[in-house]
Amino acid sequence: MKVCCIGAGYVGGPTCAVMALKCPDIVITLVDKSSERIAQWNSDKLPIYEPGLDEVVKKCRNVNLFFSTDIETAIKEADLIFISVNTPTKTCGNGKGRAADLKYVESAARMIAEIAQSNKIVVEKSTVPVRAAESIMHILRANQKPGIHYDILSNPEFLAEGTAINDLLNADRVLIGGEETPEGHQAVEKLSWIYEHWIPKQNILTTNTWSSELSKLAANAFLAQRISSINSLSAVCEATGADVSEVARAVGLDSRIGSKFLQASVGFGGSCFQKDILNLIYICENLNLPEVAAYWQQVIDMNEYQKRRFSQKIIESLFNTVSDKRIAILGFAFKKNTGDTRETAAITVCQTLLEEGAALDIYDPKVEPEQIIDDLTHPSVTESPEKVKKAVQIHSDPYSAVRATHALVICTEWDEFVDLDFERIYKSMMKPAYIFDGRKILDHERLQQIGFHVQTIGKKYQRAGLLRSWGIVPQL
Ligand code: NAD
Ligand code: UDX
Repeated sequence: MKVCCIGAGYVGGPTCAVMALKCPDIVITLVDKSSERIAQWNSDKLPIYEPGLDEVVKKCRNVNLFFSTDIETAIKEADLIFISVNTPTKTCGNGKGRAADLKYVESAARMIAEIAQSNKIVVEKSTVPVRAAESIMHILRANQKPGIHYDILSNPEFLAEGTAINDLLNADRVLIGGEETPEGHQAVEKLSWIYEHWIPKQNILTTNTWSSELSKLAANAFLAQRISSINSLSAVCEATGADVSEVARAVGLDSRIGSKFLQASVGFGGSCFQKDILNLIYICENLNLPEVAAYWQQVIDMNEYQKRRFSQKIIESLFNTVSDKRIAILGFAFKKNTGDTRETAAITVCQTLLEEGAALDIYDPKVEPEQIIDDLTHPSVTESPEKVKKAVQIHSDPYSAVRATHALVICTEWDEFVDLDFERIYKSMMKPAYIFDGRKILDHERLQQIGFHVQTIGKKYQRAGLLRSWGIVPQL
C-alpha cells in the first residue's frame, strides 16, 4: 500500500513518522507546499520539536518514509491520501473570527481531483466542521474522471503536542468515520488495517462520518471546559483562602470526575482549543442553537478572563505601574516540550505588560527568538512593532534573562524552571523581587524564605517576601 499525506505540520509529521515506524510494509510520502518545511524534514534539524520524533524520523526516513514537494507524483501513486493541512479560524468574510477556514482543505481536495488517475481513499485528518466531508466529496465528484472512485473517511487526530509520539504509539482510541455503504465499510477496513499494525482492534472505533467529525470538536471542547472550570475556581480560591490545587485534588479523586486536565494555569493556549470551540460555536449559531453556542462561548470567555486577570495581577502587585520596569518572562511556548507558540497565554501577558510600558527579558528553551518577535509584533498584538522590538530582549539563558529585573513571570511549565538556582536569581534581581508563577510549578514556601514576594494562580499568599525584606518574619 502507498500512502500520501498532504500537510507536513505538527500532525502530519509525527503521525506519518509513527505510521512508517509501525508499518514497514507501507510506503508513506509526506508532501507540503512549503519547500522550506520539506527541506527541514529532510535535514538534521526538524521543523518542529517533539520529544522522541528525531529518533523515529531517523529510523524511517528514506526507508519507507519520504518528505517531498512533488505533490503530484505522491497523489498519483497513493492508494490512500491523508489531508492534514491547517484549518485556522477565518480572519475575514462570513464567519470571521469563528468559522474554520477550509481553504487549504479545499485546495488539497482540488489537487487530488485534478491529479488522481486511479481510485483513492481520501482521509480527513485535519479538524473540520461537521459535514466537511460532504464538501470534499462534492469537489471530488464534480471533477471526477471516468472510472475513478473516491471514498471519503474522517479520521481525526487526538495527539497533544509535547507528547505526540507517545500519544500516537499508545492512542486511547483511533476514530474512523465513514459512509454507511458497502464501499464505505471497505474503505474503513483498509484504514483500520493500517492502525491495526500497532493499535489493538478494540481501540479502533468506527462511526458514521458526521459523528467522527463532531467527536473531535467535542473532545477538545470538553478538555478546554475542564481547564476553564478549574480556572474559574482559581479566582474563587484567591478571594477566599482556598487553594485550587487542593480543590482540584479533592474533586479529581472522584472517579466519576477524574484528575486529568484540572491544572489551573494562566490560561490554555495552543492551535486547537480556541479554534475548535469557536468552530463549534459557529456551527451551533448556524443551526439556530444560540443557547448551546452561548454555553461553549463561556469556556473561551473564561480563558480570556484568566489571561487578563493574571496579567493585571502582575501590574497591580508592582505598585500599579510597570512603566520602565524590567520583567523577565520564563517560557513562551503554549505548554512545555514544544516550541509552538500558537495562541500561547504568554502573548497576552507580554502584550499587557508592553502596553503598560514594561521592558521584557524573555527566555524559552525551545522557541526560536524570531518567533517570539514575530508574535509580539503581529498587527493583532501591537500597532507599534518598532517600539516592541526595542522593549523586548530575548535571552538564551534564564539567569541572564532575570538579571536586574523587578519581577519574574513563569508562563510555561518547563521542567528546567523548577531546578533553577533561585538564591542566585534573587541576588541578581531588583528588590523587592517578585515571582508570578502562572503554572504553579515552583516551591513557593522556599521562594518566600529566600525573600521573594510570590503570587500564583488559585492561592493567595500574604506579602511574606515583602514583609521579610522589611525584617518581619511572617507566619506562613
Ligand atoms: P500546521 O500548520 O503545522 O501544518 C499544516 C501544513 O499544511 C503546513 O505545513 C502547510 O504548508 C501545509 N499545507 C496547507 N495547504 C496545503 C496544500 N494545499 N498542499 C500542501 N500542503 C499544504 O498544522 P497542524 O498543527 O499540523 O494541524 C493540521 C490539522 O490537524 C488542523 O486541522 C488541526 O486543527 C488538526 N490538529 C492539530 C493538532 C495539533 O496538536 N497541532 C492536534 C490534532 C489535530
Ligand atoms: C489538545 C488536545 O489535548 C489534543 O487531544 C488535540 O488533538 C489537540 O489539542 P494540545 O493543544 O497540543 O492538545 O495540548 P494540551 O495538552 O491539550 O494543552 C492545551 C493547553 O491547555 C496548554 O496551554 C496547556 O498548558 C493547558 N492546560 C492543559 C492547562 O492549563 N491545564 C491542564 O490541566 C491541562
